[in-house]
Amino acid sequence: MKSSRIKGLHNKSIEERRLLSLGDLDPEELGILNTGGLSNSKADTITENVIGIFALPLSVVPNFLINDEEYILPMVTEEPSIVAAASNAAKLCRDTGGFKVKPEASVTSCELLVSENITIVKEYIKSSVEFLKENLICENTDLVQSGGKVTDIHYMDLPNSSDIKYLKIRLDIITVDAMGANIVNSAGEKLGNILTANCDTTVHGAIVTNSFPQRTTSVSVNYSKKILENIFPGSVENFLRIYEWAKIDPSRAVTHNKGIINGISGVAMALGNDTRAIESGLHFRAASNGIYQPLSRWSVSGDFLHGEADFPLAVATVGGMTSHHPEVSLLKTKLRINNSETANMMAASAGLANNFSALFAIATSGIQHGHMKLHKRKFR
Ligand code: MEV
Repeated sequence: MKSSRIKGLHNKSIEERRLLSLGDLDPEELGILNTGGLSNSKADTITENVIGIFALPLSVVPNFLINDEEYILPMVTEEPSIVAAASNAAKLCRDTGGFKVKPEASVTSCELLVSENITIVKEYIKSSVEFLKENLICENTDLVQSGGKVTDIHYMDLPNSSDIKYLKIRLDIITVDAMGANIVNSAGEKLGNILTANCDTTVHGAIVTNSFPQRTTSVSVNYSKKILENIFPGSVENFLRIYEWAKIDPSRAVTHNKGIINGISGVAMALGNDTRAIESGLHFRAASNGIYQPLSRWSVSGDFLHGEADFPLAVATVGGMTSHHPEVSLLKTKLRINNSETANMMAASAGLANNFSALFAIATSGIQHGHMKLHKRKFR
């Protein structure tokens, strides 16, 4: 497998970068990169009241070693220094094993709210769960053929906020390479109709949850303490202080997490994903123990500065814009992004890489040092 380590990519021309990262491109592919890939007429089918195309820079991020495989990441961002920061962080951990990533199965969930005849609803779900699992997505043959299935239907009493008692029902579905909002919403509404017909209840609403309770991608990385201390003496100790700050102070934690989201959303955006869904899931996870916390954890382990995180992630490679945007299709083919698992692994690694770079910069020469150098290029 060709190495993703590309020396001095930032000093090359755009044409050279294309060749080095994507390989040979035919005229049609070059046209897609030059124009952003989206025609007015195509854009008009994606959303409403379209009047044109809004362009952003598309970058590649070299140097990533993920589970011992070489990857060049696609990234769309408007902010200078995020691409450079991710690429430097990926370079610095190559000799210590790169990123180790474990994605969970692609489960997306729909939740339903009921308040009437709760006992009957619970009994019905308990006794009919196998029938429901078989029937809620059976007409979605493409999904079923590619391994999609309902894995569970369960319920929980919600805390009382008034005299009304609410029950939440959660439907978990393997949506394979799709984020799955449309799939689970359709199945949830179907379940709602079945419950209404069989339990003399009213289903008040059914909607996907962006908390992605069963779609966690775990990522970890080691940096050599010795190398970090050579770059900047005292850096590791201060890095850990800056991390501690995020643990004890939610208003620092939210900015710490913004640094992670810089990488995650940059990759997700390049792959045509709904970044708002991903970001809301990440903030939900950060606040899940009642106090907003940093999404990553950093510690010293032997000779290493060790970082890890468990991100709820549903970066898709099929469905929505991911299947309709010619530039996304080109990137998926050229950069070997064959499934949601790979996309999630890339996004999670970029998130931890950008987090490392931000904390290292804050803990040493200050964030403005590198950031402003790159920012000033705009005014040249
Ligand atoms: C800027 O986009 C991101 C940072 O603020 C993240 C952080 O403070 O950790 C540098």
